[in-house]
Amino acid sequence: MPFSRAVRAQAPALIKSLKPQYAPTVCKRWKSGPYGYTQAKALVYSKYGDPSEVLSLHTHSISPSLPPNQLLLRTLASPINPADINQIQGVYPSKPPFTSLLGTSVPSAVAGNEACFEVQSIGSSIKSVAKGDWVIMRSTGFGTWRTHALAEEKDILRVEKGGLTEIQAATVGVNPTTAWRMLVDFENLEGGRDWFIQNGANSGVGRAAIQLGREWGLKSINIIRDRKTPEETESMKKELLDLGATKVITESELQSRSTVSEIKEWTSGKNLKLGLNCVGGPVTLALVKTLSPGGHLVTYGAMSKQPLSLPTGLLIFKDLKFSGFWVSRWSDANSAEKEKTVESILQMTREGRFKDIPVQEMRWEWATEGERLVEAVGGGLEGFRSGKGVLVFGDT
Ligand SMILES: NC(=O)c1ccc[n+]([C@@H]2O[C@H](COP(=O)([O-])OP(=O)(O)OC[C@H]3O[C@@H](n4cnc5c(N)ncnc54)[C@H](OP(=O)(O)O)[C@@H]3O)[C@@H](O)[C@H]2O)c1
Repeated sequence: MPFSRAVRAQAPALIKSLKPQYAPTVCKRWKSGPYGYTQAKALVYSKYGDPSEVLSLHTHSISPSLPPNQLLLRTLASPINPADINQIQGVYPSKPPFTSLLGTSVPSAVAGNEACFEVQSIGSSIKSVAKGDWVIMRSTGFGTWRTHALAEEKDILRVEKGGLTEIQAATVGVNPTTAWRMLVDFENLEGGRDWFIQNGANSGVGRAAIQLGREWGLKSINIIRDRKTPEETESMKKELLDLGATKVITESELQSRSTVSEIKEWTSGKNLKLGLNCVGGPVTLALVKTLSPGGHLVTYGAMSKQPLSLPTGLLIFKDLKFSGFWVSRWSDANSAEKEKTVESILQMTREGRFKDIPVQEMRWEWATEGERLVEAVGGGLEGFRSGKGVLVFGDT
């Protein structure tokens, strides 16, 4: 159970007043140790596997004497993205090194890749940020499911926090950035004329692509999985249409000849130039077949875990192009551009032109038990979720 600041302040007196048999049930916490040490917690793993088996909550202390080039950060919010789970499973290409830096009994890595942090204190040579500022990580792989972290100036991007929530800042660097780059970097799409088609359209990336498309005058065909009931399917379609989708169809509708003919009509047979794929498998082949001659499929995820097989005629006679996109690689190679992309999306957010993804918040208070956090993480790859899991930090 979370305790308010006022209750915490009274905790020592309260503990003393309790009968001894009740005392252990009170959560004792020395947030700032006798020499100003910060008490911190992190979700760590020391081997790859199912999060429920390999993740554990580790408590450690952070020294108050910061090296000149370091900052102490307090985490405000951190999403649970599919890639975070894949990384813990050991099936993701980037694998943070296992180290003993946090004093774990065996070398471990901190899970999570994206977050919004508040700067708590800065080393003497830090100039670009001040105490109280918000920052996000410049690259993935830092390890964000923790209450506090030490970072260097080169690791972070300062975020102007006015008009934003912690969750908006915490979720800008991966999904919306991916959507933005995929719409801009692969084909020269013209607003008012061109179309794109995407699967996983209700995902974080999909929702971002819909909204950016709407802003830039691009028309979109959005594929979702059929929900359990027709009512739920209609409700999801409406949600995406309200965000700015031009058309929303289900995977099963995409299999029908009449829908394929309709798509040809909508796009004049030549203006469906870009496909975005985060699913793979046979349903993606149906998507590829709708692309106009010379069209381009950009693959950035594989939620179905199935390979994409293609008839060679699509390459020879239709001249389709196939590419992949990975925001981690792109961010590392395009640091200044990433900063601009993030700031542009955040500005749209402040102006109400870019809506939040639906989220399921998991509060992480100082007293929250490790099992509860691990359980929240475990749901991160489940389908048909009502929102993305986000760890929201209380008075940690
Ligand atoms: N390459 C990159 O740089 C990059 C960057 C960001 C994200 N990604 C990838 O993009 C994908 C989406 O990420 P996100 O964070 O936007 O997702 P998210 O918001 O967590 O949503 C997950 C999406 O995946 C769909 N899904 C789950 N299982 C599926 C299955 N078996 N078949 C078809 N669809 C399925 C869900 O649809 P339902 O609602 O129907 O379950 C939902 O649309 C992930 O694969 C992620 O790794 C890649």
